[in-house]
Amino acid sequence: MKQTFFSALLLGLIACQPAQKSDSAADIERRIDEILPQLTVEEKVAMCHAQSKFTSPGVPRLGIPELAMSDGPHGVRAEILWDDWGTAGWTNDSCTAFPALTALASTFNPELAHAYGVAIGEEARYRRKDVLLGPGVNIYRTPLNGRNFEYMGEDPLLAATMCVPYIQGVQSNGVAACVKHYALNNQEIDRGHINVEVSDRALYEIYLPAFDAAVREGKVWSIMGAYNQYRGQHCCHNKRLLVDILKGDWQFDGAVITDWGGAHNTDEAAFNGLDIEMGTHTDGLTSNTASAYDSYYLAQPFLEKIKSGEIPMSVLDDKVRRILRLMMRTSLDREKPFGALVNEAHSATALSVAREGIVLLKNDSFLPLDPETEMTIAVIGENAVRPMAPGGGSSELKTKYEISTVDGLRSRLPKAKILHSYGYSSGPSVYDHEIEPKENQDSLRRAAVSLAKSADMVIYVGGLNKNHRQDCENGDRKHLELPFGQNRLLDEILAVNPKTAVVLISGNAVTMPWIERVPAIVQAWYLGSEAGNAIADVLSGAVNPSGKLPFTFPVSLADNAAHSFGPASVPGDGVKQEYMEDILVGYRWHDTKQIAPLFAFGHGLSYTTFEVDGAKTSASTAPFGGEFSVSATVKNTGNREGAEVLQVYVGKKESKVVRALKELKGFKKVGLAAGESKSVSITIPVSKLAFYNEEIPGWEVEKGTYTIYVGTAADNIAAELEIEITDLIREK
Ligand code: GLC
Repeated sequence: MKQTFFSALLLGLIACQPAQKSDSAADIERRIDEILPQLTVEEKVAMCHAQSKFTSPGVPRLGIPELAMSDGPHGVRAEILWDDWGTAGWTNDSCTAFPALTALASTFNPELAHAYGVAIGEEARYRRKDVLLGPGVNIYRTPLNGRNFEYMGEDPLLAATMCVPYIQGVQSNGVAACVKHYALNNQEIDRGHINVEVSDRALYEIYLPAFDAAVREGKVWSIMGAYNQYRGQHCCHNKRLLVDILKGDWQFDGAVITDWGGAHNTDEAAFNGLDIEMGTHTDGLTSNTASAYDSYYLAQPFLEKIKSGEIPMSVLDDKVRRILRLMMRTSLDREKPFGALVNEAHSATALSVAREGIVLLKNDSFLPLDPETEMTIAVIGENAVRPMAPGGGSSELKTKYEISTVDGLRSRLPKAKILHSYGYSSGPSVYDHEIEPKENQDSLRRAAVSLAKSADMVIYVGGLNKNHRQDCENGDRKHLELPFGQNRLLDEILAVNPKTAVVLISGNAVTMPWIERVPAIVQAWYLGSEAGNAIADVLSGAVNPSGKLPFTFPVSLADNAAHSFGPASVPGDGVKQEYMEDILVGYRWHDTKQIAPLFAFGHGLSYTTFEVDGAKTSASTAPFGGEFSVSATVKNTGNREGAEVLQVYVGKKESKVVRALKELKGFKKVGLAAGESKSVSITIPVSKLAFYNEEIPGWEVEKGTYTIYVGTAADNIAAELEIEITDLIREK
């Protein structure tokens, strides 16, 4: 279409007019209506695919800026080269490393999730990024998944409740969150193609709720398709997931973005709801081939099909409308703030999340340490000094600073003599292969044991790390045990000094053969820039731990639901896998099959003690469409302040379908001074008691008696109540 100079000028004035302060949704739609007819078909198609590693084009002719995207969920990744996965070597892109999302989930504190989103969104905005590629909310199905550390655990309600405020916080900065990876990306092995077979019931009850909440409550502006397949179709252009459910049932009005290289077919990408194709290469082209972007499925092949009429213009226009809407909310939004990078407020937020996310798993009156202690403390383990912001795959970070556990302890225990010994080494964190450490492990172990023997006490800091096939993208762990010879090292340390506290820095469960011989165990996640300060705050008692596990620690891998069904269930046969445990994921499995966990979902100790009593419901019966409340009095019965998380689970003992013994239906964190009591009330909509009935298909609330479990962990229930649901209700 030939533009006269003046109409182009007029258009330019319209199009590049940033959304006015008062821009409402209606104003945005009106402005999109004005722009769309002025675009050439080439400009429209160009907007639907990458022009570089992390940007998609705007419309230069009209002054519409390109869309800039960046990882990741825990901080804004260092600038990546235009057309190569290498870093650009900038000197102004160091960020605040926030704790990994497992740590955020462990806080069970939605307000903190919002503060986290605001802070990371400010950093993204300051770095001129319009789309932040996070949060990741894939469910923790197997403890071997290399990316569990990036996600929010095994329970759909926890992941849903914690991701919504994070998204809202990010987007308050005029930066789009991009909830990922939609859907069923629950392992890294064969992630690019594995075909997941799962029942509708498990899909709707376990794997979709966090995405549903992100879209319908969080109003997320973009979503990332997963690499894997679902029912034989790639998730990045899966009709059921994207057209029927996401854009149909959920009325998602944002843009669907592929995972990088996740598109495989032009017709499917066109008709099945994909909007922007990102990636490294496509249809077998080697990465970075000069014309790679033009050969993307939504590039030249798509343009040709539009021009030939094989694909109607309406298909393209819907994509462009969504992309323009994403732009109006971000790059073209005049209202957006300017953001901020690496300031005290962000460090304070990172520290708060880290402190509240740490979980005290075991404590035989061993912790906290006396902050005035003058003991000689052997701090043993590579993780006591190893930076954890780098590595792990796309969530890697170049951070302005990262406090190690040793540094944190030295500042929080100023009179103690803190001596470090590695004990083991694991080599550099490499993305796609393992590197044998060059150090002699025997000599490292001997030196550490010798130091342990001479010290008054030991703080062992081990766990996993961001190496390939540890907590790292693009690979899963090979087993559930601590790697790098740590169990032998711990045995030898304990033999010479039983006064040993264990701190695990990891994003996944591990086995603990030494558990009976260790007086204290702390689960510390990848805690980001303030890691060492947070860990030392908890060990020294400056902070009373209040974190709760977002996933179960099984005693052995065979106790895990997915693994109990063998390789066809996980990791599959290289072509497909079937989620045979169905809805019984995590504690749902352990409770229902009566398999005692090593540590339960929702478990976390404190330096004080709490009692829960007086549990009651607001009614003995409730109709569908109604709601009921469960309340209890939580008392701090110890001698220092602390916080507890009241958890309410619900189950139905008599049911026409298989049900988990109980499922989390609400939680609330409450801070209490020593001796203080508070009444805590949690409201539960009756609709949340429904199961997904594949025969309707839709949600069904059975009539009858439901059991309500009130407690502070899946295996720590203080009271059981009942409520009668008076009518059977079904809804599509
Ligand atoms: C990666 C990850 C995704 C990330 C993207 C860009 O493969 O799966 O989470 O955002 O590519 O780095």
